[in-house]
Amino acid sequence: MDEIMTRLSAKRAKRYDSGIFWDFLTKDRAFFELVGELYDKYPGVPVVGTVSFLTPALVVRSPENVRQILAGDTTSFNHRGIDVNGDVDPLADNLLLMNGIRWKLTRQKMTPLFTAAKLKNMFYIMDRNGRDFVDYIRTKPVSQKAFDTLNIFCAAAICSSIFGLGTKSSMDSPLLDMARKVVAPSLAKTLKITLVNTFPTLFRLLKLKVFVDYEDFFIDAMKKVLRARELDSVRKHDFADLCLELQRNGTMKDATSGYEIEPTDELMAAQAFFFIIAGVEPSATAMFFVLFEMAKHPEMLKKLHAEVDQTFEECKGDITYEAIVKMEYLDKVLDESMRMYPPIGSLNRKCTKNDVLPHGNIKVEEGTLLFIPVYSIHHDPIYYPDPETFDPERFSLEARQSRPKYTYLPFGDGHRVCLAARFARLQMKTGLVHVLRHFAVRTGDAGRPIKYFKLPVQVTPANVDFEFVERKLVR
Ligand code: HEM
Repeated sequence: MDEIMTRLSAKRAKRYDSGIFWDFLTKDRAFFELVGELYDKYPGVPVVGTVSFLTPALVVRSPENVRQILAGDTTSFNHRGIDVNGDVDPLADNLLLMNGIRWKLTRQKMTPLFTAAKLKNMFYIMDRNGRDFVDYIRTKPVSQKAFDTLNIFCAAAICSSIFGLGTKSSMDSPLLDMARKVVAPSLAKTLKITLVNTFPTLFRLLKLKVFVDYEDFFIDAMKKVLRARELDSVRKHDFADLCLELQRNGTMKDATSGYEIEPTDELMAAQAFFFIIAGVEPSATAMFFVLFEMAKHPEMLKKLHAEVDQTFEECKGDITYEAIVKMEYLDKVLDESMRMYPPIGSLNRKCTKNDVLPHGNIKVEEGTLLFIPVYSIHHDPIYYPDPETFDPERFSLEARQSRPKYTYLPFGDGHRVCLAARFARLQMKTGLVHVLRHFAVRTGDAGRPIKYFKLPVQVTPANVDFEFVERKLVR
């Protein structure tokens, strides 16, 4: 009991831990695995105290406390805990890394870009991406790992959703190389992210930039596209069109505080740039694990193929937005895949005003970091019995309704929930439907324990693979 009480106090926990970011720097483990060790070690407590170098931190275990942090009516937990130098690092001035009123106003103005109606208009781009992807798989190097193939697809899909389609295959976009470099893991990136997280003041004082390598190229590309669109009377329904719409509406203004932001090309470029970072790898991870699990479970693959074939037949070969949206089994498989392998394994917040968490009446002081262990919650047998078994039926309507809220968080939840969850789902489902119409999948890694890359938030597979096998379609 003593130890459990100690764990409730982040400050006192300082004496026991070397610090979670120190462990991240020195151990060969992904950050979500380190957070998960603390989650698993102290079952039954509402939070577990640790430190991030000198800053107190809490691993939040109970759904009630998760709710308060992500979706509660206070604004004390809306900060991501990362302070970048948005004034000198223009690409870091994006929705994920913004905080306070700047974040609130930008989020408000960007939210309408992802309505169902906008996605429906954009669907023709996703459909073309899916078709181009099938051709790409047929010609790709045999030795290319499936995760890399999916990463290339997701980079191509995001780039064409931002900048539009050209006459060539979307898999040949000139931005693809940059998009892939931006998301490739590297030691320098790990160090920068650790520095931003652990010594934010030093990071600001030194005016360090996270995304300096891509600044000129990306802002220039965005400016060129926006200027060309101003002269184009045909609407393309991609993000460039939507950015132009925002610019035409003029200065963005918060009605309550009067705070204003100019929708400059740089600000639009920062949001688009972040869509690449946010969109490519998580989507590739989710698609990878859907196909990997299908390769492990031929009976499920058969059922999914049947749904895909039926959908194609009902649409007479030309898949529609409405048809994709109502594919139930694909939805369940995708949901279960993101449960077992949530692409973002932990969510981070920083407390900006002294507050209290309801479960356990835990006082949280300003400056405390909060880690929500998404991967561990998704693998807790209390919420998901037999958690290491892949079972899409966990996502039938009845099963979903029987679980406590805030125990399924692949896209986060509450005030800072993924802005583009619907977009991402549609894009992944469209890619998967095209692939599964033409390919089966098989793997020799079914029994292998999965290892993950050492990354700050992602759950990225390091040691398993599968291959695409052409189907013989009976038409
Ligand atoms: C499978 C794919 C994706 C997954 C699993 C995913 C997951 C997430 C998660 C976990 C967060 C943090 C939520 C929180 O802190 O509560 C997030 C934030 C965000 N995501 Fe996604 N995401 C995906 C794809 C995308 C795509 C494609 C885009 C853009 C086109 C996008 C845009 C954003 C934005 C703008 C935020 C920041 C929201 C804010 O701070 O207000 N995401 N996403």
